[in-house]
Amino acid sequence: MQLRVTEVRAIARDILRLTLQAPDGRALPGAQAGAHIGLHLPSGLVRQYSLTNATGEPHLAAYEVAIGLDATSRGGSTWIHAQLRVGAALQVSEPRNQFPLDPAHHHVLLLAGGIGITPVYAMAQTAQRLGLDWQLVACARSLGRIAYAEELRALSSERVHLHGDAEAGARIDFGRWLKAQAWDGVYACGPQPMLDDLTQRTAAWPTGRFRQEKFKAEAIDTALDQAFELVLARSSLRTRVEPGEPVLDAMERLGVDHPFSCREGLCGACECACIDGEPDHRDQFLDAAARAEGRRFLPCVSRARGERLTLDL
Ligand code: FES
Repeated sequence: MQLRVTEVRAIARDILRLTLQAPDGRALPGAQAGAHIGLHLPSGLVRQYSLTNATGEPHLAAYEVAIGLDATSRGGSTWIHAQLRVGAALQVSEPRNQFPLDPAHHHVLLLAGGIGITPVYAMAQTAQRLGLDWQLVACARSLGRIAYAEELRALSSERVHLHGDAEAGARIDFGRWLKAQAWDGVYACGPQPMLDDLTQRTAAWPTGRFRQEKFKAEAIDTALDQAFELVLARSSLRTRVEPGEPVLDAMERLGVDHPFSCREGLCGACECACIDGEPDHRDQFLDAAARAEGRRFLPCVSRARGERLTLDL
């Protein structure tokens, strides 16, 4: 979709909220809490941002996303903070949701670190609307860095707990919140050390009770990559994929115009079907069941374990 930026507003320290609307005012496809959209920046970068106003309506008048200024930005957030202005036109991909609230979860803990508040804020709005038993705990280096603080307090002052490390003089203890009651589901979004800590603390929990959304793909070790043959069955094309070369790049080398967005194994936009060979899954999109089945494949990061991989393309 080609959308127009209709508002850019600073809503916390180093965090901008963007409002995007169709130029002709038409309604946009709605989404459930946890969904994200892809912003296609003029540099060619595509960046995924959670929709903070996705709460299950079939249509939305506008999309709202909040973007933190990332000190390690490779051009996405830096460009948006420095250059993007009201009136700019941006190509935007439709909402996708890899981080939905499970309807079976009635006692829900929402955890956010820094800009990880964005999907969690949408979840809190949904949880409140559905009458769930929910609590939200958000932390940042200081309270001034927590986006949507006022809106969250207005949603429920009893259920929302905001923690600034600077004001508290210490980091938050998420362990205390995990043990606070028997949660059906714990949903977390934040920096990698926070998610690693929570993953460790919940390692013995049943599958699906702890769910997380990552900001960034984990680094992939390509040192042991082996070359393999890529076969595209329907188009009768084949090529050798070199060590370190993404399958998606090899496909583009063959002239195949395949959809993609993040190119980091996060968004699922490049998913296709594998019909022969054993995939070496390196994405963070497919769950354990999909990996074990071995049919779904994300060519932007994943490779083959054997000498040949055949895709249904
Ligand atoms: S392009 Fe996003 S997972 Fe492949």
